[in-house]
Amino acid sequence: MIRRAGDFFLLQTPGTAYAFRVMETGHLEHLYYGAALGWTTETPEHQILSDCAALTEKRVFEPGNSIAYDREHKAVNLEDLRQEISSRGKGDIRDPFLEIRYPDGSVTSDFLFDSAEIRTGKTSMETLPGAWGTEADAEELTVTLKDRDLTLELCYSVFLDCDVICRRSRLYNGGDDPVTVERLMSAQLDLDTDGWELALFHGAWAREMDKHDVSVGTARVVNASVTGTSSNRNNPFVILHRPDAGESAGACYGFNLIYSGNHYTSAQANAYRKTRLLTGINPETFSWHLEPGQTLEAPEVVTAFSPGGFRGLSRILHHFVREHIVRGVWQHKPRPVLLNSWEAAYFDINETKLLRLARAARDVGVELFVMDDGWFADRSDDSRSLGDWDANPKKLPGGVAGLAKKVRELGLDFGIWIEPEMVNTDSDLYRAHPEWSMDIPGRPHSEGRNQRVLDLSNPEVVEHLIRRFTELLSSAEISYVKWDMNRIFSDVYSRYLPPDRQGETAHRYVMGLYRLMGALTERFPEILFEGCASGGNRFDLGILCYCPQIWASDNTDAVCRVHIQEGYSYGYPMNCVTSHVSACPNHQTLRETPLMTRFNVAAFGVLGYEMNLADLNRGELDEIRNEIALYKLWREVLQQGDFYRIQHGNIHKWICVSKDKRLAVGMMFQQMVWPNTQYENFRPVGLDENLRYRFYSLSYKFDIREFGDLVNTVAPIHIRQNSLVHNVLAKFVSLPAEVEDVTVSGSVLMKAGVKLAPAYGGTGFNEQTRYFQDFGSRLYFIEAVD
Ligand code: GLA
Repeated sequence: MIRRAGDFFLLQTPGTAYAFRVMETGHLEHLYYGAALGWTTETPEHQILSDCAALTEKRVFEPGNSIAYDREHKAVNLEDLRQEISSRGKGDIRDPFLEIRYPDGSVTSDFLFDSAEIRTGKTSMETLPGAWGTEADAEELTVTLKDRDLTLELCYSVFLDCDVICRRSRLYNGGDDPVTVERLMSAQLDLDTDGWELALFHGAWAREMDKHDVSVGTARVVNASVTGTSSNRNNPFVILHRPDAGESAGACYGFNLIYSGNHYTSAQANAYRKTRLLTGINPETFSWHLEPGQTLEAPEVVTAFSPGGFRGLSRILHHFVREHIVRGVWQHKPRPVLLNSWEAAYFDINETKLLRLARAARDVGVELFVMDDGWFADRSDDSRSLGDWDANPKKLPGGVAGLAKKVRELGLDFGIWIEPEMVNTDSDLYRAHPEWSMDIPGRPHSEGRNQRVLDLSNPEVVEHLIRRFTELLSSAEISYVKWDMNRIFSDVYSRYLPPDRQGETAHRYVMGLYRLMGALTERFPEILFEGCASGGNRFDLGILCYCPQIWASDNTDAVCRVHIQEGYSYGYPMNCVTSHVSACPNHQTLRETPLMTRFNVAAFGVLGYEMNLADLNRGELDEIRNEIALYKLWREVLQQGDFYRIQHGNIHKWICVSKDKRLAVGMMFQQMVWPNTQYENFRPVGLDENLRYRFYSLSYKFDIREFGDLVNTVAPIHIRQNSLVHNVLAKFVSLPAEVEDVTVSGSVLMKAGVKLAPAYGGTGFNEQTRYFQDFGSRLYFIEAVD
């Protein structure tokens, strides 16, 4: 609901409320964002006016050693006022929402209220992707402010099916002279109190999304990227929360930009204990020449509030991303189980090898075969050929179309890897168009993975790529595309732009990227596009507007993946996170983990395989076949259900619950065995208290005592590492047998939990504990019986 009552504006979602007002001076005073306050369309206006009057700032004196706005409004001190937006120069000395350099060189702005418009539905932006909604589930408020010839629009989209408000801003130059926009944020939130914490998701290649909390004090906390991508160093998603917030209780605000480039979020408390959070494009690498008659759009930001802790916030964001960010044919469609050739063969691929792999994949139940890097031109390592997207005739004699046909004849769908945004200097594309790549003329260039970034701020480059990839994707029966991007920016410079507009390059690149992704996803709506940037270097809501799923990390080790996937789960639904079972020892960590654990962890994302299946023994293949069959049975719950974190630490517990709460899959993962600890219990969340459920687990049906001597002569550590023992055990792998099986009410399950069988209790020295040792895991299945 959006309502205007006098000078007050009220925005309400089912569980949250947001309020601000137009002050006498024309500034917008922020009044409230938090749990719903009970306002409805029926609430009498006088009641709203008196409620809101209670929320306004009550300063009556001219502030000491601060700036009074003007002589008529001596008590208006912008430094100590919660505002919807702020600028430099009129007394607010905090981090500003916008900064504009005027033709006379001054940087003082003062945007004041002009008009407001409320409408149903959700409008889209011209240059950037945004959330989407219909007349039935979204309403929008646009507030227009003016400063001289500049018009600033603040847009608030309120979603009626979840507790999200999307915000964005737009600046229009209606004057006769150009201005330079040094910063234009997407949203500002000024809160009355200090003592907040900011949860950030830091990382690097192969260890993405490591959550940690920073206290927000009077020193500014900044979460930003200058890599040209949203980055694995600092994901744009942040949570501002009370220090006592936990998984199930506590105030949490979530902010996530729908943007894939350099971003910036700052949080800081001021001298009056008010906290300001700002989020938008990173001003550090940005400067925009705004000509008369032109508009600049700042990306949309998703904001959400939950009084119910991190889990409550994640629930809101999961729903929102699924329903209002991801779009197209694949939005709710079951995602196929794929086999990707990368860790199976790296660059060393050819049709014979790939078909052998595809056959093995088909035999275990895989549905989609993906040919990764190495298939085009002279691409035998990462030093050449990016940009030349013709199949290597020696590797693929029938071209991409020939291979795709053969793969489809096996009964599998066919997918392909591409990296459109990049070029190697050793390529025909670079030789023909050196000016299309980003580098500074006359200066040596720093390369990443031996490659350069194509200048997508140049429309000619974007149009070339649209043409080239339209040809490629129409040339064969391709059902899936892995869209990679394997370096960060350096030597940022566009030969297309004049010297005084180089501050626009990074943002124009992102706009060009969206134009490219938009054109290709529109032309090929049936293709499932998966985003990737060396794993999670561009895991963000901008990419998810085009690609319903993203390769979360090049790290396929199950132990690391538990942490990485859990990190993503704070802000992203698990059916956006792709996860593969890979070989043992793992290629990134050299760690050995049970196949069952690799599967159990990957099953909580979109499941795939990335290993040489053609070289596995029968036991392992049988196990994989069983696991894929199991996944398909539970795929809807795992991909479309509600995911909750239950516990983390040495033991992680997760659960995915179907929308109707009648089915659920839980997982317990134990990193290290500790002897003589208590028997674990599993206490699900998200079920229906009033239903009765059957709770059971499956284990592999073998009796470890049959190997008594063998097992007893090998120290426990070797049972895991010694492939001989593994293989002998694997021979006995057959259909799963139940090991836990109780029928119990939802209420008992969620309030008391189920005591688990000893395999995970770590209670001491028994065969089961020894087999399910470090990195052990188990799935639990929960089915309503009423
Ligand atoms: C990146 C991706 C990998 C793989 C390689 C191919 O590193 O993240 O999954 O596709 O590129 O070069």
